[in-house]
Amino acid sequence: MKIKILRSKTNTHQEYVLPDREITLLKALELIKSSVDATLTYSAGCRSSVCGACAVRVNGRSQLSCSYKAKDGDIIEPLQHHPILRDLKIDKHKAKETLKRSQAWLHDTKEASLSPQDEKKTEKQTDCILCDSCYSACPVLAVNPDFLGPFALTRAYRYSTDKRENDTKTIIDHIQAEGIWDCTLCGECTAACPKGIDPKMDIMMLRSASVQQGYTDPSFALQSFGTPDFGGGFGFDPNAGF
Ligand code: SF4
Ligand code: SF4
Ligand code: FES
Repeated sequence: MKIKILRSKTNTHQEYVLPDREITLLKALELIKSSVDATLTYSAGCRSSVCGACAVRVNGRSQLSCSYKAKDGDIIEPLQHHPILRDLKIDKHKAKETLKRSQAWLHDTKEASLSPQDEKKTEKQTDCILCDSCYSACPVLAVNPDFLGPFALTRAYRYSTDKRENDTKTIIDHIQAEGIWDCTLCGECTAACPKGIDPKMDIMMLRSASVQQGYTDPSFALQSFGTPDFGGGFGFDPNAGF
């Protein structure tokens, strides 16, 4: 089997030959590094889909390299919207800053008992491993690098619905600018998530919570609906003289 990997030094896809047996992409990268090219650089940690360190793009789609099975013809590239440090290794610092900007944590806690149903409501969002797969897949980040992006908004939803939080307004206030209203609801983040999280749905829920707190969609406010036409043409003319 042959795979191609985008090498940062030459900015070209380099082809590597691998044994014809089922192996994970991470194992393939390890084989190349140990026996063909020691300069190949990538990230990995837990090797069991838990730490989120190993995400890359395979044929244009985000994948965890420790769980994805390498296939003949695969083209491997680093995640998008991050500075590339070398080959498949990226700098996730700016993406993680979105968690701070969204203020997605408990601010003013009170005692509250959480039922199994309460825990169920945000169980999925709690599974986020911060792999950045959704961030890479988001088309808004391609045109607006300051967009908060899907995983920060999913985390904002998780904490804004926590019964122990007295101050959900702080979170809602911090996800308005470059946040929930900038999302196009395309669903690419949801399709990319290896943990089955649905950031698009979380963003829709945050929009609803924001409206309840008095916010409106800024693009909606900018739209002009014109003035009502009661006369002439095909409309009702109040001066027609009944
Ligand atoms: S649904 Fe929104 S956050 Fe998710 S990928 Fe599309 S634009 Fe980005
Ligand atoms: S929401 Fe999913 S794709 Fe996005 S960082 Fe979390 S685990 Fe990764
Ligand atoms: S190495 Fe930790 S998620 Fe793949």
